[in-house]
Amino acid sequence: MAIQFDVADRTITLHTRATTYQMQIADTGHVLHLYYGPRIDGECLDYLHVLTDCGFSPNCYENRMRREISPDILPLEYSAAGSGDYRVPALECVSAEGVVGADLRYVRHGIVEGKYALPGLPAAFGEGDQAQTLSLVLSDAATGLEVELLYGVFDGADVITRAAVFRNRGDAAIRLDRAASLCLDLPFAPGSSGGEWELLHLHGRHCMERMPERVPLMHGIQTVGSRRGASSHHHNPFTVLMASDTTETQGECLGIMPVYSGNHRTDIELNQADAVRVVSGIGGDLFGWQLDPGDSFCAPEVILCRTDGGMEGLTHHFHDFLNRHLIRSPWKDRVRPLLINSWESMTCDFDADKVLAFAAEAAKLGVELVVLDDGWFGARNDDNAGLGDWTANEAKLPGGLKPLSDAIHAMGLRFGLWIEPEMVNEDSDLYRTHPEWALAVPGRRPVTARNQLVLDMGNREVVEYLYGVFSALIRENGIDYIKWDMNRNIADTYSTALPPHRQGEVSHRYMLGVYELMDRLTGEYPEVLFENCAGGGGRFDAGMLYYTPQIWCSDDSDAIERLTIQTGTAIGYPVSAMGAHVSACPNQQTGRTTPFGTRAIVAMSGTFGFELDPARLTDDEKRRMRALADRYHRFYNVIHRGRYYRLTGLEGWGGYVAWAFVSPDGGQALVNLVVTRTHANTHGIHLRLRGLDAHGRYRLAEAVVEGCERPDGRILNDAALEDRIFTGRSLMAAGITLRPMRGDYPGVQLLFERVGGDS
Ligand code: DGJ
Repeated sequence: MAIQFDVADRTITLHTRATTYQMQIADTGHVLHLYYGPRIDGECLDYLHVLTDCGFSPNCYENRMRREISPDILPLEYSAAGSGDYRVPALECVSAEGVVGADLRYVRHGIVEGKYALPGLPAAFGEGDQAQTLSLVLSDAATGLEVELLYGVFDGADVITRAAVFRNRGDAAIRLDRAASLCLDLPFAPGSSGGEWELLHLHGRHCMERMPERVPLMHGIQTVGSRRGASSHHHNPFTVLMASDTTETQGECLGIMPVYSGNHRTDIELNQADAVRVVSGIGGDLFGWQLDPGDSFCAPEVILCRTDGGMEGLTHHFHDFLNRHLIRSPWKDRVRPLLINSWESMTCDFDADKVLAFAAEAAKLGVELVVLDDGWFGARNDDNAGLGDWTANEAKLPGGLKPLSDAIHAMGLRFGLWIEPEMVNEDSDLYRTHPEWALAVPGRRPVTARNQLVLDMGNREVVEYLYGVFSALIRENGIDYIKWDMNRNIADTYSTALPPHRQGEVSHRYMLGVYELMDRLTGEYPEVLFENCAGGGGRFDAGMLYYTPQIWCSDDSDAIERLTIQTGTAIGYPVSAMGAHVSACPNQQTGRTTPFGTRAIVAMSGTFGFELDPARLTDDEKRRMRALADRYHRFYNVIHRGRYYRLTGLEGWGGYVAWAFVSPDGGQALVNLVVTRTHANTHGIHLRLRGLDAHGRYRLAEAVVEGCERPDGRILNDAALEDRIFTGRSLMAAGITLRPMRGDYPGVQLLFERVGGDS
């Protein structure tokens, strides 16, 4: 049993394969958090719980004579503002009668097989043999507010998910001002010898998303979040707490990942007792949810994963978990078609002839899917007009999309289309007909961005309308792939469909509307491959992955910048989810020129595709592109179904970045390496592989060196080494040395294949 209740000591224990999470129901009804760490069976861990009289930390009434028991110090499973716990609260609320805050005490709990679901929200899934659910209900006597804490315990995956449902069982309305899904008190220092906690988060900006940053925890509260109405380019909803001595391959790590694409917030407080509290879930300064008597509110899920396997161990857990228990699309297990996207080569400047010529040229080079990006609809010739009018621009595409789609299909290709459902230009028929569908505060001119306004996705009429439009668009035009974009953040969160006292609900209702639309369209068209996008990677999060198996990583397609972006992204998200393309040089965003093959090595470390005009390639590049299409298919399994290793850690060592992919059976290992700084008079590059079969015997089956001035093209010391048989053990313990490389940004791809065992 993954979840156990011990009647005698009133503990509830959650076990996963390698971890134990234990809580205890105290006499006062507080639910105390006792432990989350390496697995311990059959023991009550309440001896860990140190009582101490802490000045200015008050006592609850029942314990007023016991100054060593304070809600401000006790590790609590969930805590509200207003009743003597001054740490960062998970719940802030006020009732219509003026009761501020809550004092939450145990009511009941239940254990069921299988994983709970959250209506209208993305959430991990698991059957009875994979997961169990704990429901733990607390309530506040003064208001009648009930909080149901949900725990999804995934034994094999070593993951615990958390969510919370709030129910108003009282007689007066209650406004939730903060309704976090997770409160986790970590009373002790990490590591075996009392180390200190550090925090890693993925910060960034448009065109430079998810850069890892690791800092020591300071006393006080550190917050990672977004108030932009989207999970954002700026602060990804994924944080890692780890011991200060945790490395890539060993040490304690705790990953916290909200399954949410809107405003999120994770607070980490290091308090007076040097204990850490983590509070995570929905965020946003303007959030306020009105719960009328009898109503309930469901807060989004947060995924928790703990390991002693270092950052690499945490990455592997998250990749496996998201692949097996979160991404729903049938495409997650299929080889994705090799695509070419029109955006960087054509922007909005095309017509049917140009697109057909583009497709015909791409088909010769091994491309399987042609994606027509922005500019095909309404009066869309630039970003000033047309959003909202989802019928083909007849001046560009006479007869509409169908003839184009048919012609592309007749070439043996699939046809994909860009859409941006959530937005509208003022210069559009949709806006002229329904100005009230755009978010705007009465009496105030709305903030614009990219000349567009945001549709009120919390309004049912809007979602119904968009569903009708896009369902018909896909059906009538034989669309095989959809790129779902979202190109601005949200402001002016006022909905004409809601009364004044519900305006604090707009941002979350917006997300519920987006999720509903995605759910209906992806459910109706499971064969269509959906890719998410938000001006690049502005919504690269677990919420979106529930609906779409891949997300465009960044509008920065420069291969060298992508090394950082993709390294950061892959800390938490699977390689098969990272949209990555080979684009033209000089690169549109940075002006940098990198070798064609190096660009391919980086893009092949994600979903792989092209974002260039094939007609403008040299003959040599065309030959390489055909060879790349072949390599993409041959390496698909090892990259997308294999284990991913950051051979050069999070930073990249000494001017190069190397990632390795090892097939599940250890039979193949592919190393993708890019030199980012070339030096004179330098030594070779030394790499130690990981994840191989130690007893296996491997040979270097393929070595590709790109952009390097070396007439003999060799990467190892001499030709004999290229025929040598290495043991898995030697490749991992001693490693391999590559010859120094000259040139701008050389790239290397090495494929090791097992040729036998028992070395
Ligand atoms: C932003 C996306 O990230 C780009 O790839 C492209 O689709 C543009 N939007 C189109 O407007």
